Amino acid sequence: MKILVTGANGQLGRETVLILRASSHDVVALTRQELDLSKTDQIAECIASHRADWVINCAAYTQVDKAESEPELASLVNRDAAQAVAEGVHSYGGKLLHVSTDYVFDGTQSHAYSESDTTHPLGIYGKTKLEGEQATLKLMPDAIILRTAWVYGIHGHNFVKTILRLIAERDELSVVDDQIGTPSWTADIAQAMLALIEKEAKGIFHFTDEGVTSWFDFAVAIRETGKNQGFPIKAAKICPIPSKNYPTPAPRPAFTVLSKEKIRGILGYDIPHWQDSLQSMLKKLKDSTLI
Ligand SMILES: NC(=O)c1ccc[n+]([C@@H]2O[C@H](COP(=O)([O-])OP(=O)(O)OC[C@H]3O[C@@H](n4cnc5c(N)ncnc54)[C@H](OP(=O)(O)O)[C@@H]3O)[C@@H](O)[C@H]2O)c1
Repeated sequence: MKILVTGANGQLGRETVLILRASSHDVVALTRQELDLSKTDQIAECIASHRADWVINCAAYTQVDKAESEPELASLVNRDAAQAVAEGVHSYGGKLLHVSTDYVFDGTQSHAYSESDTTHPLGIYGKTKLEGEQATLKLMPDAIILRTAWVYGIHGHNFVKTILRLIAERDELSVVDDQIGTPSWTADIAQAMLALIEKEAKGIFHFTDEGVTSWFDFAVAIRETGKNQGFPIKAAKICPIPSKNYPTPAPRPAFTVLSKEKIRGILGYDIPHWQDSLQSMLKKLKDSTLI
């Protein structure tokens, strides 16, 4: 299949391109240089010119806190550009998978969010991502919307790489322990997206790795797993703190565990536990030059 990936320089986009190519698909990888999503009038034509069987839209304005002071740019990329991508795909009869986020929820629920649960984003990033979902589905009701969460991988910037750097530099660090969710390795997300498109799925799906944790417990696991794999460790202590002691411009949902019941029925394989995937990712990172 010919598959076009936007945001091909981002952490999920890069991994997706590698995994699709390893599965012998013909991949068109578009970075910001080839497709600037802030120039919305050029997007549909660019997308349509490639006539890919599938388009996977991994590009997004992902700076959750900065979005609070740049709402226009966040809307332009996450809502207007998402709509323009859908227009481009729709114009020639292609298929679309659009990536979205757990931040469409407000985190007040105490059991895993299903695809039909009420959305209520707390900040600009989540609001614009939700509007992007809605614009996509309005034009292409058969598109796949894949909501994922707590994304990390060997490419780009993420929590795992930040914690690895901090534990090598500092004696002590503090991490919030009252935000609960599930880390998701980009390789696992990309594999799930490949399965969804190969099976021609339609509609909204949730995907994360298995398990539930807090950012604090995730940080401790990064330190312990990193130590076992020979990463440099200085910080002897990681302290749990409440979110109120770590104020951020954008409020964060307290609980965004996503139910994977729907996607399990499609995937046909066991979703990896986040601890196993963390181990695999750190090994891959250690073997690479990307630390
Ligand atoms: N990160 C998370 O924890 C998380 C959680 C849930 C859902 N998601 C979703 O997962 C998807 C992938 O995110 P990610 O973690 O891979 O983020 P990322 O590493 O920040 O990648 C986003 C990509 O979008 C590109 N982009 C941003 N603005 C653009 C513009 N104006 N024109 C063209 N490209 C632009 C970036 O280009 P540059 O490389 O040039 O900056 C980057 O390659 C997004 O839909 C995101 O909302 C992420």
